[in-house]
Parts: sequence; C-alpha cells; structure tokens
Amino acid sequence: MVGEIRRSGHNALMDLDPDAIRRFAFTPGTGGLVIERTEGSWLVAAGGRRILDASGGAMVASIGHGRAEVADAMARAAARTTYVVPPFATEERVRLSERLREQWLPEGLTRVLFTSGGSESVDAALRIARQHFVAKGETTRWKVVGRELSYHGITLAALAVGGHTKRRKGMDPLLLDFPHAPACYPLRCRMCRGRCDLQCADALEALLAREGPETVAAFIAEPIGGSTAGALTPPDGYWPRIAEICRRHGVLLIADEVMTGFGRTGRRFAVEHFGVVPDLLVGGKGLAAGYAPIGAVFAKEEVVAPIAAAGDDVMFYTFGAHPAACAAADAVLEIVRREKLVARAESMGALLRERLARLEKHPHVAEVRGRGLLQSLELVRDRDTAEPFPAEARVTARVVGTGIRNGVFFYPGGCDPARDVICLGPPFIIEPREIDLLVDVLERSIDEVVAKLD
Ligand SMILES: Cc1ncc(COP(=O)(O)O)c(C=O)c1O
Repeated sequence: MVGEIRRSGHNALMDLDPDAIRRFAFTPGTGGLVIERTEGSWLVAAGGRRILDASGGAMVASIGHGRAEVADAMARAAARTTYVVPPFATEERVRLSERLREQWLPEGLTRVLFTSGGSESVDAALRIARQHFVAKGETTRWKVVGRELSYHGITLAALAVGGHTKRRKGMDPLLLDFPHAPACYPLRCRMCRGRCDLQCADALEALLAREGPETVAAFIAEPIGGSTAGALTPPDGYWPRIAEICRRHGVLLIADEVMTGFGRTGRRFAVEHFGVVPDLLVGGKGLAAGYAPIGAVFAKEEVVAPIAAAGDDVMFYTFGAHPAACAAADAVLEIVRREKLVARAESMGALLRERLARLEKHPHVAEVRGRGLLQSLELVRDRDTAEPFPAEARVTARVVGTGIRNGVFFYPGGCDPARDVICLGPPFIIEPREIDLLVDVLERSIDEVVAKLD
C-alpha cells in the first residue's frame, strides 16, 4: 500500500511548481526547498538531490523516515475509526495509553491526555495546574514560573511562560506577565561565571519569595534545553534542587519534554538523567516521530484527582487522541522498543560527541552542549570572550543555508545572548559514516561562512 502511494506521489511531483508555496505563504522564508520524499536519515529534494537530515526535521524524526509499518498502522486506523471524540475509548487510544504506562512513563505518572502537538500540550498542562488548585480551593495560585532562554510553544500561554524573546517580539500586550527564573547557562552566567554552583536553581527560591509562593501554581522548564540557547544541559544537582524547592513551596513541577522526550537524550525521558519525577510531563515530537501530529500531557494521580473530585472536566481538543495519530505513535514506540533505539540514541550520541570534539576547539565555537542525540554548537566571533557575531551577519541562517548546499540540513537555533546556535538531532538510526559526513559538512560550512565575513 505504502509503495503504491510513494510511486504515485513521485509522479505528481513532476508537475509541482516550486514557487507555489511562496506565493501563498505569510512570509517569504517559507518554501524554497522542494522535498520530494524522505527516507531513513535523508531528505530527497526535487531532482533526487540527497540531504542528510541532521536534525530529524525539528528534532522530531527519531525512528527515521519512511517506515512502512507506521504508515500501514495509520491507514488501518483511519479506515476503521475515522474520527471519534476524544473522551470515547478506541483500540488505538487504549493500546497507546497502556504501552506508555507499561513501558515509558516514569513511575507515578499514570494519567494521560493526548493533544495534537507540543504547544497544545503545554497549554493543557498550564490549564491542568490551575484547575488542580481551583479544585482544591487554593484559588490564589495561578502564576506559572518559566525560565529565561526557554521555549514551550507558540500558543499565547506557551509563549507567555517561555523565555524566547525573539518569538515573543511584539506580543507582550497579549501575554500574561508570568515571572521567569534564570536559565542554567554557565557560559554566560553572572552568578557562577562558568562553574555552576546551582545559584541559578536557588534563584527560583528567591523568585518564589518575591512573588509569594501562595500565588504560584507551577514551575515549567525543559530538563535539557532545546534550540533557544542550544541544548543547555544543567549539572546533575540542578534538577533535584529545583524539585525540592517546588515541593517545599507546594508548587507543581512541569517538565517540558516535547523535544527531549521519547529517547532523544539517550534515556526514555531526560528527567531520568537527573533522578527526578515531575508532577506533570509534556511530550510531543518523538511520540509519533513525525508520522502524525500528536502530543500528550502525563500527570500524577494526585494532580488530577482533585479535578475529578470537584466534578470538573479537563476540556479536550477536537483532534486530540486522533485514532490514526495514536496508531502511528503506538507503531513508532513499538519500533523504538524492538530496535532498542533509546540505547542507540545514547551510543550514537556518544559517537557524535566524540566526532564533535575537534569542533570544541574551533576558534568560532564557544561550546558544544547536549546529551545523547540532542547536541548544539554555540558560534561566536571570539571564543575567548564569547562575544557573539553581529546580528546583521546572520551567521546561523548562513551556516544552515551553506549546510543544505553542502548536503546536510542543520536546525537553526539561538536567541540573544546565545545568538548563533546550530542544533543537531538526527534520527536514532543514523549510521557512523553518516555522523562523519555530518561533522565534516558542519565544520566546512562554518568555515565557509566565517571566511566570507568582514
Ligand atoms: C520544549 C518544547 N516545548 C514545546 C514546543 C512546541 O511544540 P509544537 O511546535 O509541536 O507546538 C517545542 C517545539 O519546538 C519545544 O521544543
């Protein structure tokens, strides 16, 4: 079935006008590259040019592209149960929920709500945190503390709690004024100046004291950062300290694992690196590895029990828990289990890191950061002072463009002061020789761009 679809898709593309998307898009940045198909760790552009997908799209494609088993599971689900409102049970929903509880979720996270993606899931998590306290009669608790240099999605609540100043630009009047704690970013930290001693974690305690803990419902953070500042990775003690502060002040801890979840960092979830179980955990991207739009919120029993006891509902999204998307996620997670891909993300991550070692000494690389197959490079004008390149030089965009011309797609990241960030998040099935190619092209692309700067 999938083979037939591929063949007919290929023929149809021969007539595609590559500029069509640009004519209808909101912004000129859209379009540009016509992708004919995707397979394994590769994108195949029109005319057959192959581009290594070094970031799995937006750190999404974990099992690799084009697995017929997943497409077939989706087709079967769509034929059997086209659409069913989310509160009803279907075979695909039940199977996926059971698999998650039995094989994936940290101990204690037993409740599952499916959405259509990461931003919706973050929004739902904030809503659930608020509903929890309203149900318990603690109605003063409404604020959600985020962190600087973070990203939680593009819905207005997710933007408000996030610290991505570029994506928040001009939106302030629409955003709730949530407080933001410092990121754990030793390279530019004013408190520790490079040797993290967890003052950044303690700053959360000081912030709660200023705000009044009785006004705070939750704290949300990415256990390991995403593309905003480039895979910011805290030291081992950071998350236990944060969890302890939240617990002491009755604040719910939300781990946003939209990017890090489902194996990307070499553990099922990144919180496992740090021995912490959050009250709510948000997932997306890797859940169905790009085969279908699906996200999820997972919660402890004690978080949702008061909501149920008060007779309140957690309102669903129309397309939440879509049967074909649940079938895709179930088939993806079966492949991850059968092929031991979480362990592979760890071992290939170690290999990638080893190969990146030579770039750690590059005169324009301030730092290589990350865990498993989520790695980033922060590019700077001066490695000794960590002075960024000027914004007008558009270094990240140019490295990404040069990378595509050289045959590898890197994901652009960065947000001041971490202005230029190149993100790596290849499929877990990436082969060692493809890792070599990725690193060679990355080095060459950085050098080509820097050579053209004045
Ligand atoms: C940590 C994190 N949270 C939330 C989101 C938003 O997810 P989506 O783009 O699926 O809405 C992203 C997307 O990159 C993310 O990295």
